[in-house]
Amino acid sequence: MPSNNDRQRLSAFEVTWLPTLNGPLQAAVLTDTTDQRLADAMTYSLLAGGKRLRPLLTVATLTTVGGTFDKACDWRPVMALELLHTYSLIHDDLPAMDNDPLRRGEPTNHMKFGAGMATLAGDGLLTLAFQWLTATALPAATQVALVNGLAHAAGPNGMVAGQARDVQSEHVNLPFEQLRTLHREKTGALLHYAVLAGLILGNVTEDDRQPYLDFADAFGLAFQIYDDILDVVATPQELGKATQKDAGEAKNTYPGKLGLAGANQALIDTIAAGRAALDRIPAGTDISLLAAFFSYFDTNRVK
Ligand code: IPE
Ligand code: IPE
Ligand code: MG
Ligand code: MG
Ligand code: MG
Repeated sequence: MPSNNDRQRLSAFEVTWLPTLNGPLQAAVLTDTTDQRLADAMTYSLLAGGKRLRPLLTVATLTTVGGTFDKACDWRPVMALELLHTYSLIHDDLPAMDNDPLRRGEPTNHMKFGAGMATLAGDGLLTLAFQWLTATALPAATQVALVNGLAHAAGPNGMVAGQARDVQSEHVNLPFEQLRTLHREKTGALLHYAVLAGLILGNVTEDDRQPYLDFADAFGLAFQIYDDILDVVATPQELGKATQKDAGEAKNTYPGKLGLAGANQALIDTIAAGRAALDRIPAGTDISLLAAFFSYFDTNRVK
């Protein structure tokens, strides 16, 4: 059960960091995009809202390991992940994929700009993400590590692979183990990278990374289990996206396989695994900020 303290901690962290992360975003995308309609389509989805959980997780990891963040120079590499995530949402909503009408409380990109321009807006955000990873004075080795990490997380052995499994397995009853793999790839991989980016920026050596990455993997799996639960129990007004969609499209989901109560128990167990990973971080490091991210999940949504 998330404590009120953890919720307040996460909210305070958001209030502190969101202006830094969001403030320069629109102007920077407009500067880097030459075609006006393309720029409009890219910024439409990017600025529609969104929790910014992935870049916040990067900054929280960096803070936890005692790293510093040059707000003026380094917000671009941190927000690159949000560009990439937004691309994944625009493409996920396309008629040929999940065919959804609502995202971040607004009509989806293709409803507003057409499927062709929505595809290109996604392409633009994906590519600009990698440009932004190198738009910084950080050492070359750090830039290469970020590029390598995001490419692995987002590409054909990460998020895109998971999305490929997702669309191929509509109306196919996947074994449970394969559903875990699908969730780890389509959603877990980018959250893994969110934490990895904080470790890279904080110069944490590979020997010391594992408990943080185990935390990230548990958080990522929990995130998609919770998303599947919310699809059943939440409203479009609350989420800013269509709900009650997964069953109709015969998606493989945790509630579909385990029932709502079983999915909620899997969520509780996965959160516990993530907390246990944080407990493996050597004493002397304050893990409370990362632990506060678990307050995003409300395990009382299912009665
Ligand atoms: C939605 O991600 C897509 C999934 C991976 C389930 P978020 O829930 O983080 O969406 P935004 O960024 O807040 O819109
Ligand atoms: C999306 O999974 C994962 C992505 C990589 C975008 P979903 O299809 O369940 O996400 P929502 O529910 O549309 O946000
Ligand atoms: Mg999908
Ligand atoms: Mg979807
Ligand atoms: Mg979903």
